[in-house]
This record gives sequence, C-alpha cells and structure tokens, in this order.
Amino acid sequence: MGELLEVRDLVKHFPVTRGVAFRRTVGRVRAVDGVSFSLRAGETLGVVGESGCGKSTLAQVLMRLEPPTSGTALFEGEPVFSLRGAALRRWRRDMQIVLQDPYTSLNPRMTVGDIVGEPFEIHPEVAPRGSRAGRVRELLDVVGLNPEHINRYPHQFSGGQRQRIGIARALALRPKVIVCDEPVSALDVSIQAQVMNLLAELQGEFGLAYVFIAHDLSVVRHLSDRVAVMYLGKIVEIGTEEEIYEHPTHPYTQALLSAVPVADPTLRGRRDVIRLTGDVPSPLTPPTGCRFRTRCWKAQDVCATDEPALLTRIGTHPSACHFAEERHII
Ligand SMILES: Nc1ncnc2c1ncn2[C@@H]1O[C@H](COP(=O)(O)OP(=O)(O)OP(=O)(O)O)[C@@H](O)[C@H]1O
Ligand SMILES: [Mg+2]
Repeated sequence: MGELLEVRDLVKHFPVTRGVAFRRTVGRVRAVDGVSFSLRAGETLGVVGESGCGKSTLAQVLMRLEPPTSGTALFEGEPVFSLRGAALRRWRRDMQIVLQDPYTSLNPRMTVGDIVGEPFEIHPEVAPRGSRAGRVRELLDVVGLNPEHINRYPHQFSGGQRQRIGIARALALRPKVIVCDEPVSALDVSIQAQVMNLLAELQGEFGLAYVFIAHDLSVVRHLSDRVAVMYLGKIVEIGTEEEIYEHPTHPYTQALLSAVPVADPTLRGRRDVIRLTGDVPSPLTPPTGCRFRTRCWKAQDVCATDEPALLTRIGTHPSACHFAEERHII
C-alpha cells in the first residue's frame, strides 16, 4: 500500500479584522498551524483533540472548501491545492466528506433520491442518466436504508438514518478517501456504534481510507490504524493505535486517555488519573514555546522558550514534548 495522501506543513490562519469595511487586520486565528501526516490506501487515521483545536478547519482545507494559508497536500503524488480542469474533477470524485450534523447537512427540500444522486449530476460519467435511480437504490441498500424510501424527505428519517444518507452520498462516486468530521457526535449513544460499524464494513467492502475526526480517543480506537492527537492547531503526537493507546508519550495524550471512561471496575481503581486544569488558550495568542505548557504538569523553563518539534526518537513514535516519556494509562 503506497501513500495516498501526503500533507506537509499545512497552515490555515483566519485574519481577524476591524475598522471601516474590516480593512485592518488585528490578529490571526491560527486554526491549523503546521500539520503534516500521510495516509495510505485503505487505512484509517484518527484525528483527535478538544473543541477548537482545528480539526474541522483541517478537514475543510483538505477538501478545498477553504484555501490553505500555506503548505501542500499530495494526492497520489498530485498537488491538491493547484489541481485544475480534468485532474481537479477526478480528484473531486476520489475524496469525499461526511459532516457532523445530519440535521443541517442535508437539503430539506430534496428527496433522498435527489440527495444521494446529486453527485451524478456533477459527474455524469460515473452513472449514465438511465442507470441513476438503480444506482441510488443500491447505495441506500449498502448503507442499510430501505431503497423503497427513495422519494422521502430528510425530516422523515431519524438522526442515524440521516447520517446514513450522508454516507450514501459520499460513497456515490466511489471515492478512495472519506474525511469523516465527527460523523457520530450528534447522534444518540445507542446509534453511534451502529454508524461506526457501518463505516467499518464499508471500509472493508470498498477499500476506503478514512481521515476520522473525533473529540474523544475512545471513539476512534477500534476503527483507527493510526491516530494523530491535535492541540491548538498542531499534531502533538502521532502513532499506531498501539503506540498511542498503550505507549503514549505526550502529556496531553496521556491526559486525554486518562479521561476515557473505563468499564471494568477493577481497572478503574488502579488507574492513573491525570486531571487537566485550565482551558485551552486562545488560538489568537498561543503560548510561546510549547503550546501545551500552560496546562502541563511537566513544564520547565525550556518549554516556554523552545517549541518542541514532532520528533521521531529512536525506538518510539513522533511526540512533540521535551520530556516525552512513556506512561501506561490503561
Ligand atoms: N471561518 C472562520 N473564521 C475565523 N475563525 C475560524 C473560522 N473557522 C474556524 N475558526 C476558528 O478556528 C479554530 C479552530 O476551529 P475548528 O472548527 O477547526 O475546531 P474543531 O477542532 O473542529 O472544534 P470542534 O471540536 O468544536 O468541532 C477555532 O478557534 C475557531 O473559532
Ligand atoms: Mg469541528
């Protein structure tokens, strides 16, 4: 499996403007501030971090819904942000997104058939006009919806079913990558597992790669081959599922893991509990040096002056901490 997507030093800053016609820039929200990772065909990369750390902005930039401030993304070796013409059209088929909120992301005035079939209007080469209704029915069946409901409207479905509609639409053009931006966060807990299982099945069936965004490390564990932990616009630790959950080395990852609920009461008692204090600082004025230092129990003087790089140390995975060291959380 070769690299499908390679993201290098991706930056997205939003200018904060004031004054007449908002012409004066008074600051920049550093939503994504130098993110690099790669994604192989068929693989799932989980992206985890607290609210506001830049996960959705990363997704929007990767999908070309927002232009990057700087940085590159290569899809099958082609630079995504400068694709034009036929190459751009091809790429648009290959990368799709599923959004968080199935209540607002579907047009309420369109039938399910029109919503799922809409991509074929833009890419008629994928399904000739005569075959579209059949193809839409197939897609509804694949995501576990009744194909007979093709003429219903979004409000006639539950939240979980609506998310299935969004997934069917994302699958329509047979993409290679789906960016999932918290696809189950808005759903009832009882429904979340069903939608996660569906995404896992679809991955096996169609060889999909996922960039799977979530707040919480527990959500992505079963689906992810690798996990990237984000804090204030940066990846602070990235590794395989085993490296992140069994051998985390960044204090922030350790704190997030410590907050994951444990079902087994015998483990609960023995558990290493780390409580994060304070709020995430503003991405307008991130702390100097290490951005996590204002909430870190390990912080020393060097953390305020030297920004730790996402280094690969010998024998372990990349972790952006001057004092990275393994700590087993359970
Ligand atoms: N269009 C915009 N203009 C200005 N600032 C923005 C814009 N979009 C996002 N931001 C800011 O960028 C930062 C990152 O936001 P983003 O939505 O990417 O975070 P997130 O990790 O997806 O959060 P959540 O978990 O709540 O979805 C936040 O401070 C947010 O306020
Ligand atoms: Mg978000």
